[in-house]
Amino acid sequence: MDLERERQLISRMGTQLPGEADLQDFCAHGEIVSAIAALVAKALGEDEAFCREIAVAGMLHDIGKLELADVIYGHRDDIMAVERSKYVRMHPALGIDVLRKEGAYSEEVISFIANHHENFDGTGYPNHLEGEEIPYGARILRVCDVFAALVSNRRYRSAFSIDTAIEMMIDDVKDYDMKVFLAFLSVVYSNEFAGVRDMINRAQANAALLSSQPGEPPHAGDRGLHA
Ligand SMILES: [Fe+2]
Repeated sequence: MDLERERQLISRMGTQLPGEADLQDFCAHGEIVSAIAALVAKALGEDEAFCREIAVAGMLHDIGKLELADVIYGHRDDIMAVERSKYVRMHPALGIDVLRKEGAYSEEVISFIANHHENFDGTGYPNHLEGEEIPYGARILRVCDVFAALVSNRRYRSAFSIDTAIEMMIDDVKDYDMKVFLAFLSVVYSNEFAGVRDMINRAQANAALLSSQPGEPPHAGDRGLHA
């Protein structure tokens, strides 16, 4: 799928990130969410146009974070964790602004991105939407985003294996639309998933390489669910 315009938008806005590693990480996460979301949509029987829309939304779902790059990704001591989390929660709304300004994205894509942190049981944000109040594409993104975050290295923990990530998601299955979650499981255990596994492995190897350079190594423990 051609996502060149989306990659260019990320590169343009990513200049505000503290380092090249953060930009690589940001892009890799978007690419993985995008690829899985397109496969899940296909498994759910959606047409090519919808699969394209969800792939675009997957690539750009966190674009609003780049408006707050200094606060979210910067190593600032003057911001408390609680304050940082408040800023992080603004990123879906900031994403809407970015995409409207770009003028190249459908209201459907924008609604998927605006709601990608809503949980099926109403415990998500920003509007605590519940069940089918949450746009369908946002319910797909939610599942793919959490999985992609769990199988990636974070500053504070190593990546979980695919099987462990799925077990952890089953523990929190109330957060997801069950129809979407079952389609996601069928995708993960299909042959089509091989390409995504390669992307995940590449992203993990890249992050491990960067963390082996002087600095704080990642460690296991904290679940570190994607904020
Ligand atoms: Fe997000």
